[in-house]
Amino acid sequence: MNNPFNPSFGRIPTIFLNRGHLIDEVVEELDNPNSPYKVSIVYGMRGVGKTTFLTEVGRKVEQEPNWLVVDLAMGSNLMATLVDNLYMKANSDLQKTFESIRGLSFSAFGLQLSADISKPTLSTYQGILTNMFAKLRKKGIKVLITLDEVKSNSELKNFAAYYQILNREDYPVALMMTGLPENISELQNEDVMTFLLRGKRIPLSSLNLLQIELSYSKVFNQSGYKVNADTLNKMAVMTMGYSYAFQLLGYLVWNAAKESKIINQALLDQVKIEYLIELDQNAYTKIFSSLSKQDKKFVLAIAQSKDNRVLIKEIREKLGRPSNFVANYRRRLLDDQIIKSTNYGEVAFTLPYFKEYVLQQYRFEQGLE
Ligand SMILES: Nc1ncnc2c1ncn2[C@@H]1O[C@H](COP(=O)(O)OP(=O)(O)OP(=O)(O)O)[C@@H](O)[C@H]1O
Ligand SMILES: [Mg+2]
Repeated sequence: MNNPFNPSFGRIPTIFLNRGHLIDEVVEELDNPNSPYKVSIVYGMRGVGKTTFLTEVGRKVEQEPNWLVVDLAMGSNLMATLVDNLYMKANSDLQKTFESIRGLSFSAFGLQLSADISKPTLSTYQGILTNMFAKLRKKGIKVLITLDEVKSNSELKNFAAYYQILNREDYPVALMMTGLPENISELQNEDVMTFLLRGKRIPLSSLNLLQIELSYSKVFNQSGYKVNADTLNKMAVMTMGYSYAFQLLGYLVWNAAKESKIINQALLDQVKIEYLIELDQNAYTKIFSSLSKQDKKFVLAIAQSKDNRVLIKEIREKLGRPSNFVANYRRRLLDDQIIKSTNYGEVAFTLPYFKEYVLQQYRFEQGLE
C-alpha cells in the first residue's frame, strides 16, 4: 500500500480531518441568498490548511445542482480569467448562451473578441461579465468564485470594485478568499477592498489533537503497523495540531517503519531529525522571515524562557520595554497565529518545535557575527 500521508501544500490529502462541521455548514449556508458567507475570507498561518479548505468547499459546492465553481489565482488578469473560466465550466447548453453575447466568441484557448474590440480594457471585461452573469441569473445558476492567497494589489482592487457592483445588484455570485493574516489586514488600507473585509471571517487554527491521535491509530493499525497508545499520543503531541506537521509526521513514520512495521519511541527519535529539517525548510523559514525585527525579538524572548508557557511580564522584563509596546507586539503575533494565549497574561508558541527553531536560528546568527 502506498503512503497515504501527503505533506505537500495545496492538495487535498487522502487523510483529511474535518474541522467539526465547518465545511458542510459553509456549503449549506451558501444556498441561502442572504448568506453571511456570500463573501468570506479563510485565513490562518502558512500550512494551516487554507488552500485545502477552499478546494474542499469548492468540490462540495460543485456537486450541488445549479452551482458553478470558478477558481481564480492572483497573478493573472482576474477579470479575463473569470470570463474564460465561466465559459470552460459551463455545460454546452450554457456555453451556447454565452456565445450569443454580441462580439464574443470562445475557442479552446478561451475568449476571443471580435475585431472592433481589439484591445480589451477593464470596462470591456466588466461588460462581458455582467452579460454573462445576467444569463446565469436567468437560468437560476449560482456561481462561487474562489480566490486563493489574496494580496493587496491593483488587480485585486479592480476585481473588488467590480464584485461590489455585482453584489449590490444581487447577482447570485459568492466569493470565498483565503489569505495569510498579515495580507488580509493589509486590505484595510485600501478603500475598495475594505468591502471584502466586511464578509464572513473564517479563522483556521490547529486541528484537534484527539482527532489526530485517532486518525494515526486507525491508519497505522489498519495497515498492519504495531503501535501502542502511548506512542500514538506522543505522535499527536509532536504535531501540536499543525496540519502540515500532521501529514509530514505520518508520512515520515510510515516510510521509516515500512519494513519493521513497528512504531515505538526509538523510531520516533530516528524520524524526528528529518521531521525538524522538513518543518524548517518548508514552513518555519518562510514564517520566520516574514516577521519584523521587533517581532523576532519578542519571539526570541519567548524561546529563551525556561518555560513553554511564558508570562508576558517575563517578556516585558527581558525586552526592557513599556507594557503598551509589549502588548502591541503580543497582539500582532497572536493575530498572525505565531503565538497563542494559554492563560491570562501568558503565551506559548502554536507550532511544534518552534522554540528550538528560533533558538537555533539565533545561534546561527550569533555565529555569523
Ligand atoms: N483538514 C486537514 N486534515 C489533514 N491534513 C490537512 C488538512 N488541511 C490541510 N492539511 C495538510 O496541511 C498541509 C498544508 O495545507 P495547505 O496547503 O492547504 O495550507 P495553506 O494554509 O494553504 O498553506 P500556505 O499558507 O502555505 O498556502 C498539506 O500537507 C495538507 O495536506
Ligand atoms: Mg495555500
